[in-house]
Amino acid sequence: MCGIIGYIGNKNCVPLLIEGLKRLEYRGYDSAGIGVIKDGQSIIVKNKGKVSELQAKVEQLDLEANIGLGHTRWATHGIPNEINAHPHQNSDGTIFLIHNGIIENYKPLKKILSQEGYKFSSETDTEVIAHLIDSFLKKGFDFFKATRLALLEIEGTYGLAVLYTREPDKIIVARKGSPIILGIGNNENFVASDVSAVLAHTKNVIYLEDGEIALLKKDDYLVRTITDDEVIKEVQEISMTLDEIDKGGYPHFMLKEIMEQPESLRNSIRGRLLLEEGTAKLGGLDNIIDDLLDVDRFIITACGTSWHAGLVAEYMFEQFIRIPTEVEYASEFRYRNPVINKRDAVFFISQSGETADTLAALRETKLRGGIAIGICNVVGSSIARESDSGVYIHAGPEIGVASTKAFTSQLIVLALITLLIARRKNLSLENGREIAKAISRIPDQVAEILKLNDKIEEIAEKFKDAKNFLYLGRGYNFPVALEGALKLKEISYIHAEGYPAAEMKHGPIALIDENMPVVFIAPKDATYDKIISNIQEVKARGGRIIAIASEGDEEIKDLVEYVIYIPHTIAMLKPILTVIPLQLLAYHIAVKKGLNVDQPRNLAKSVTVE
Ligand code: AGP
Ligand code: GLU
Repeated sequence: MCGIIGYIGNKNCVPLLIEGLKRLEYRGYDSAGIGVIKDGQSIIVKNKGKVSELQAKVEQLDLEANIGLGHTRWATHGIPNEINAHPHQNSDGTIFLIHNGIIENYKPLKKILSQEGYKFSSETDTEVIAHLIDSFLKKGFDFFKATRLALLEIEGTYGLAVLYTREPDKIIVARKGSPIILGIGNNENFVASDVSAVLAHTKNVIYLEDGEIALLKKDDYLVRTITDDEVIKEVQEISMTLDEIDKGGYPHFMLKEIMEQPESLRNSIRGRLLLEEGTAKLGGLDNIIDDLLDVDRFIITACGTSWHAGLVAEYMFEQFIRIPTEVEYASEFRYRNPVINKRDAVFFISQSGETADTLAALRETKLRGGIAIGICNVVGSSIARESDSGVYIHAGPEIGVASTKAFTSQLIVLALITLLIARRKNLSLENGREIAKAISRIPDQVAEILKLNDKIEEIAEKFKDAKNFLYLGRGYNFPVALEGALKLKEISYIHAEGYPAAEMKHGPIALIDENMPVVFIAPKDATYDKIISNIQEVKARGGRIIAIASEGDEEIKDLVEYVIYIPHTIAMLKPILTVIPLQLLAYHIAVKKGLNVDQPRNLAKSVTVE
């Protein structure tokens, strides 16, 4: 999720740590901190906000040390503030560590450690690791083994670096699900969450793999598996430029974020799916779940892409929970004097958690006694904090202005919410298990679709000069038609409209000719035959058709110019798969037009003004 840097050598590490954190700022973060060992003592400096503010604090201390760690935090557990910022320590400050990832079982571990007398100072999941290592040190194990044994207790993900004041000649580094590398220098060594933080000092790196733990000295290192088997690692020389590295080797943040959706979706699902029970576990809703079973109405309000996610959720909620559900633009909702009372549950979907119209709609809702539920990506954001309850989507920082991975994470979280509530009402165990299993397969299915990237780029080449596009879909995929059109227009500046496919004959069909590319979202589902009819109507008028279709559908490919196949899944999850080709189509068309994909003209990542 966020940024890690560590140093051990003969230089003063403090400026190196700050410089490394600045190289990692592009990843997005909410707070930062460093920790060093000086004269056998740990010195920790943390800051809510920017690295530059941390730097100002550090420079006042005139700090010098030869071993230290730095961290930029993207909060998942515990709001962004100085206490929750990393590094986190054990009680006597002899251990401190920095962590990227999510500790799924931190609550039971925290309970056990508290019963053993450990005191916690932060709200984070990370702090548990510091006390767990301490507990193994107290059992007489050395630093490396104590850390290894502690990590064997951890469920979830970590990219981790740990220091121990009583063994100040080493950094312990470990990886499980969050990338971390060793930078091998000349009589100095580094650890980082990605190579951009060390490239200024060394091109020689070792990529740790999941399940590996390393002991790093200034002139030596060893790597073992977490189960203590020896590992031989190859030192690799980096060839990428810094600019390429900032984007994970991709030319744009948007493509990086499209390509990391298998991982971001896994993070959204992590620890929340109960396959055997056929339901979901969402701690953020615990305080209102009983009320949600009893409300008269759901309202979903948001803006832009998040509003499209709300439209998909409307179909989910009404199909499976059977509570009337309305979706409204937040900008309209807040001004139309809505009829809201305590028997209404209102969902506020927002990646940034700061969109002015959505925040205003939330405040209107609370003023009138409605139940406010935030579905946000940014932990501690205004909408998240002011909601009565909510669920974070854990998509990680989304830097590209055009929302991609946040949208699919919103959808998977809304499916988890649907499953949780529906199973508390009328959904059977068997049907719950079917939905849970389908959800668990989505990340791998998205990875399959992403392999079509080159084919989609070829299609983009054929249509990059179009002046208008039409996107058509039915049912769950009507909102995907809207989202596909929005993606295209906001980054390629081509006019595009999304419509329910059946609406075509009520006007838009007048637009159809050979200059109007039409994208049909046409997977095998209940309305497939109807959409085939719509395709034939467009074809008969010379329209050029691109279809998103289900694998194995031989019928459709004779009707359209291009077909992009996606794997089968249940109807409510299809939007997560059908949107992927549309994200890539928009991206490649915009790139071929030479436009600024990550910062399109006139747009902001978060619209915090009306
Ligand atoms: C989507 O690609 C756009 N960047 C925009 O429509 C965005 O979805 C909208 O501004 C809502 O933002 P939010 O999710 O942060 O509230
Ligand atoms: N889960 C940890 C926290 O919330 C780490 C977050 C991160 O990866 O930056 O502090």
